[in-house]
Amino acid sequence: MERLARESGGLDVNSGYAYLLWCRDFADTSVVARAGGRLAGFITGYRRPAAPDTLFVWQVAVGPDFRRRGLASRMLGHLTAAACERGVRFVEATVTPGNKASQHLFASFAAANDARITRDVLFSERELGSGHEPEVLHRIGPLARPIAARRGPGVRG
Ligand SMILES: CC(C)(COP(=O)(O)OP(=O)(O)OC[C@H]1O[C@@H](n2cnc3c(N)ncnc32)[C@H](O)[C@@H]1OP(=O)(O)O)[C@@H](O)C(=O)NCCC(=O)NCCS
Repeated sequence: MERLARESGGLDVNSGYAYLLWCRDFADTSVVARAGGRLAGFITGYRRPAAPDTLFVWQVAVGPDFRRRGLASRMLGHLTAAACERGVRFVEATVTPGNKASQHLFASFAAANDARITRDVLFSERELGSGHEPEVLHRIGPLARPIAARRGPGVRG
C-alpha cells in the first residue's frame, strides 16, 4: 500500500508501519483490490469516533495501469454498502481543488445514490503548510440502501 500510494502521485505517503497498523485495526472500513497477484488499488477509511454514522474515506489509490475502469467506484461502493449495514449514513472525504479524478469519483458516487454533496474547506493551506493545496471536505448523504457504485445504466440495483 505504501508503494502504491507513492506510485499514485498526489497522496501524502504514510509509513509502512502506519499502513500495517491501519489494516490491523481498521480492516472493516478499508479495502484492497488485487489483480493477477498485484495490488491494484486500496481505500483506507474509518468511522468517525464523534460521529459514527459517518464513514471518513482517508486515502483512495488506484495503480496507474488500472485507472478509468471503475475500480475506485467499485471499492467505494463496496465499502459504503458494508458500512451502511452497520449504521453509516454519510461518507466524507477531503479532496484538493486540483484533483479532478477524485472530484469526479465522489460526484459520481453521490449522483448514483441520489445523495446530496456539500463542499467546504476543512484544512486550509495555512494549516497544512507551504505548498499544500487546501483540503476540501466533501460530505455525501444521507445515503439509503441499496448503495450503487457509480452512475450509468445497468449499475443501480
Ligand atoms: C482518483 C482515483 C482513485 C480514481 O480511480 P479510478 O479507478 O480511475 O476511478 P473510476 O474509474 O472508478 O472513475 C470514477 C469516476 O471518475 C471519473 N474519472 C476518473 N479519473 C478521471 C480523470 N483523470 N479525469 C476526469 N474524470 C475522471 C470517471 O470517469 C468516473 O466517472 P463516471 O462514474 O461519471 O464515469 C485515481 O485516479 C488515483 O489513484 N489517483 C491518484 C491518487 C488520488 O488522487 N487519490 C484520491 C485522493 S484521496
